[in-house]
Amino acid sequence: MGEYHIIGGRRLCGEVVIGGSKNAALPILAAAALGRRSVIHNCPKISDVECTLEILEILGCDVSYDGRTVVVDARGMASHALPKEQMTKMRSSMLFTGALLSRFGQFSAHNPGGCELGKRPINLHLNAFRSLGAKVTEGEQEFFATADRLEGCKICLDFPSVGATQNIMLAATLTQGVTTIKNAAKEPEIIDLQNFLVAAGAKVTGAGTGTVVIEGVDELRDVEYSVMPDRIVAGTYLAAAAITRGSVRLKNVVHGDIRPIFEKFSEMGAAVTLEEGAICLAAPDRLKGLGYLATNPHPAFPTDMQPQIMALLATARGNCTIDEAVFESRDKHVSELVKMGAQIENCNGSIFHIEGVAQLHGATVYAKDLRGGAALILAGLAAQGKTVVKDAVYVERGYEAMHNDLQALGADIKFISS
Ligand code: UD1
Repeated sequence: MGEYHIIGGRRLCGEVVIGGSKNAALPILAAAALGRRSVIHNCPKISDVECTLEILEILGCDVSYDGRTVVVDARGMASHALPKEQMTKMRSSMLFTGALLSRFGQFSAHNPGGCELGKRPINLHLNAFRSLGAKVTEGEQEFFATADRLEGCKICLDFPSVGATQNIMLAATLTQGVTTIKNAAKEPEIIDLQNFLVAAGAKVTGAGTGTVVIEGVDELRDVEYSVMPDRIVAGTYLAAAAITRGSVRLKNVVHGDIRPIFEKFSEMGAAVTLEEGAICLAAPDRLKGLGYLATNPHPAFPTDMQPQIMALLATARGNCTIDEAVFESRDKHVSELVKMGAQIENCNGSIFHIEGVAQLHGATVYAKDLRGGAALILAGLAAQGKTVVKDAVYVERGYEAMHNDLQALGADIKFISS
């Protein structure tokens, strides 16, 4: 468990190139299990990708990694048993169940782990498999599925779950007939998965809208693909400039994907300029509160930026109520921000009231999940004195050497491994 040591107070200025998206790379790597040989460029070097590659190897794929390019040869894959150790580390491991069901008509799996954000059921995934014709058996810690024959059907999701939408896309890719997902998630990472699958020979349309249609094919072909840039990493670095009264230029961003994020920073008083493939943000001396902010599925403000914008709002002029409407308890960062002098009150369930303070102060705080850990780093960059963010392992799940990027922007931050 490493930790970050930060001396706050420096304005961050400069340029960063945004790397590949974690939330796009993980489903694409699971999709590689459906195919033949996949060459995947722009894969971030983060621990969740490493864990996903371990799963592919355990399933019998030939995996190699050269810089940020991963090659997965799934032709020799024979196992349909997902490994417990890796599955219980990451929620996204769930995506292998759809791929295995589609390819082998069966799988055995363990309840997926991941960041603790409250109850994270898998009912939408399993009910969809049942609709496709699988027999799903659920135990306390494990679950299994078998199918003599799967057949495309219409599936209407109760909630536009990102993971369930992706899992159904994978399950339907090699399944006979047409599968239609209604109330599908519209996140940009769903479009990236569709683009990868189509490049590999699948027939998928509609990603990015509420209806995704998959027409089953018999097999996929070799594919070479480059993962989209990470919109949440981009949002986090914009936030780092905003909270330190700095000015950054981020290269390799898709404006439409990050619009719900930068629009909020504009409302808070930051000057945002769009350039081709890039975005610039220059922060005022003090940001303004937002009054009210709700997280919701795309294209609304993303839940994966809620902890980071909370850190900003903690130092803004005025107040804000945040309604975390996607996850039941995405709040592990709140008590840690309060240790740094933030005034945040949990009003009711997932509703938080933040009264901006002029200055946070350094403290020893604990990352307890990925984005919450990033929020503590942001708070540390703005705080007076020294902040130690413990348990960096959570941050490393989704940010590739974040301290290096922040150092390059002028931050006084060190990563201490232990
Ligand atoms: C993905 C992202 C995560 C992001 C989230 C919401 C990846 C690897 N992770 O997670 O970073 O925070 O989308 O944008 O891409 N739900 C159910 N039943 C289900 C599935 C989900 O009730 O079967 C509920 C969840 O408990 C949660 C909500 O739906 O309250 C959203 O979850 P979902 O969209 O599925 O998120 P993930 O795919 O897990």
